[in-house]
Amino acid sequence: MNYKAYIISGCFMGALLTGCSGDYSSAPDNPSRVTEHKVDSVLGLMTLEEKIGQMVLYNGSWDVTGPATGTDDRKKLEKLKKGYVGGMLNVTSVKNTREAQRLVMEHSRLKIPLIFGYDVIHGYRTMFPVPLGESSSWDTALMEKTASVAAREAAAAGINWTFAPMMDVSRDARWGRIMEGAGEDPYLNTRIAVARIKGFQGDDLSDPATIAACAKHFAGYGFAEAGRDYNTVNIGMHELHNTILPPFKAAAAAGVATFMSSFNDIDGIPASADRYLQREILKEEWQWKGFNVSDWGAIAELIPHGVAGDKVRASELAVRAGIDMDMEGGAYEENLAGLLKDHKIPESVIDDAVKRILRVKFNLGLFDDPYRYSNEEREKKELYTVENREVALEAARKSIVLLKNQDHILPLHEKSGTIAVIGPLADDKDSPLGNWRAQADPGSAVSVLEGIRNHAPASCTVTYAKGADLATGARNFLSPLHINTDDTSGFAEALSLAGKADVVILVVGEDAFQSGEGRSQADIRFAGVQQQLIDAVHRINKNTVMVLMNGRPMNISESSGSMKAILETWFLGTEHGNAVGEVLFGKYNPAGKLPVSFPHSVGQSPLYYNRKPTGRPEGGEQVTYSHYNDTPNEALFPFGFGLSYTHFAYGNIRQDRDTFGPGEKINVTVTVTNTGKMAGAEVVQLYLHDEVASLTRPVKMLKAFEKIYLEPGEAKTVNFVIDEQMLSFYTINRKWEAEPGRFKLFIGGNSVDTDMTAFEFKSEQ
Ligand code: BGC
Repeated sequence: MNYKAYIISGCFMGALLTGCSGDYSSAPDNPSRVTEHKVDSVLGLMTLEEKIGQMVLYNGSWDVTGPATGTDDRKKLEKLKKGYVGGMLNVTSVKNTREAQRLVMEHSRLKIPLIFGYDVIHGYRTMFPVPLGESSSWDTALMEKTASVAAREAAAAGINWTFAPMMDVSRDARWGRIMEGAGEDPYLNTRIAVARIKGFQGDDLSDPATIAACAKHFAGYGFAEAGRDYNTVNIGMHELHNTILPPFKAAAAAGVATFMSSFNDIDGIPASADRYLQREILKEEWQWKGFNVSDWGAIAELIPHGVAGDKVRASELAVRAGIDMDMEGGAYEENLAGLLKDHKIPESVIDDAVKRILRVKFNLGLFDDPYRYSNEEREKKELYTVENREVALEAARKSIVLLKNQDHILPLHEKSGTIAVIGPLADDKDSPLGNWRAQADPGSAVSVLEGIRNHAPASCTVTYAKGADLATGARNFLSPLHINTDDTSGFAEALSLAGKADVVILVVGEDAFQSGEGRSQADIRFAGVQQQLIDAVHRINKNTVMVLMNGRPMNISESSGSMKAILETWFLGTEHGNAVGEVLFGKYNPAGKLPVSFPHSVGQSPLYYNRKPTGRPEGGEQVTYSHYNDTPNEALFPFGFGLSYTHFAYGNIRQDRDTFGPGEKINVTVTVTNTGKMAGAEVVQLYLHDEVASLTRPVKMLKAFEKIYLEPGEAKTVNFVIDEQMLSFYTINRKWEAEPGRFKLFIGGNSVDTDMTAFEFKSEQ
């Protein structure tokens, strides 16, 4: 394309108005160099007010997720017309986004298109499992697929930027947002983050079916002290680099278009004012070229954090730190010009931010056609299609984790007789949609009861009683839930059905709005009257299968011993009930594995398999050692755990050498055999332990995994490659390197039941 022609023919009337005569014919052919050339030429046309405007992200008031700034909508409209806004969030549908874009394109001087952001976290209209649930599939191809379907739907509805994926390593079940990530392990989080980014962004951001992704929350948000949302984070430099940053570094390397700063402070520095994180690591060390948006109002929140006395200082801290766009905070728009005038900040920080924002807009193709996401016909066709619901069903079934199956009570079959479906969540068509439900229609999910009815053999009788309410009240971001703590009036009917049934399916857990932002809990047992109901049902019928629905690891230890089977189903989205029905009746063999540890007690929080050894380990020589008097150290259900209706036997681990050096590698193989009667999938997991290092290292670290599918009797040999990079970590020298020494290697179907071998890494070949 002739770039001069592009400027003249396309969007840049403003270029003509200002008499810009950039000679684009000499632009180099390399696409990113071409984009840089365009970005520079646009920047050269902009006034200071227009530049600052690009750094402002306004909420459209349609779906508020935080305290609004008080800026009224009329003022917002005027700013849009002047071209003093870079993007909008929570404006959805082609009709609305087109209208906002039109205001800019028809009225503003430079006609720089808006970017439209939205929390497309696990679907847009068709809902996929909540991210923690979907992470249980350990199926990165699947997660890439669901993200691409979500992107396609969102893009069809006018959105071109999602605030996802969240890649906060999170180990505290009390934290409500544990639901939104991939759990407790940095490696699993990394693999999943990269897959989701690929799904959202595809290979080409300018493809109108893809949208810009956002790596959030940078950084440390998942380590909020005591699991209380937005709380202080206290971690050291090594923990930051070894545990928290790896998914973000991989996201930057994968070309994620944007980052979002987190709300928390780390060791006294709020992330949105943290120059080391936001500029030195992200932009300088990692050489990342996208733009960095603050979380909602996080710049202004530097005031209550107590590091800025007013918004002027807050803006100075944030812009210097490297925050390029202010999300609904009213800080940059009011203060950047003054800061520049007073020589508190150099214009170069503003230019750098604006260039980053323009770059993403160019990459999205918005300058070629600002309305490329504004096709109403496409919007009508692409949302909630049969094909998308098929993908939702696939994701839902792959995310279910079988935690217990005593006496092979599952799968149920033709002779299962009368099945009583009981519980407050059994016929809930809304909670399965999860908390970040975007534009899902309320109550549109298939309930567990419906799924059971859809899949039960004709020879079985299905009965139903709710038993009790879990919670009442509106389900949305701002309304508190009202947990039912005393009404047990429905128990009698439920118990009567339980008494007459051959099997009880007890559907209990959490309401969708018990987890999510601002939804931390100090108690992670069954809320309300559920435990009473569970106990009463179990007294009457010992053949009880618990179907859990929840957004966090719960403490189910009061009933895990007594239940015959336990199925963890999270919030599986639109097709929740059908997926559960398929699994209960053996049409699908569950293969999910936990991405988080389930505790015996909330007192174990934070609980994670990859903990550090202590100087006084259990089983050591000391009389007093690191443990609880009243609770095991281990998880009730560990990381990586999940059963199947079949059985997988692990053969001996073989390795082609015992020692290797830089530039070399070891091949490790293990043979896995399906010794049962049903076909199924297994996630083969490889863990390492660095025996002696310059820093204390986790007792086990997931380093590789492969999901395989085996017919009954079939065996497969899985090959893992160990190389220097796999061993490297952020060492005492404050750089990534592999230290020589002995390593233990564990392979198995979860983080506890593993076979072990060892090898040595030498610094010289
Ligand atoms: C959340 C972000 C989200 C943003 C916009 C904030 O409160 O922390 O994760 O993307 O709101 O809705």
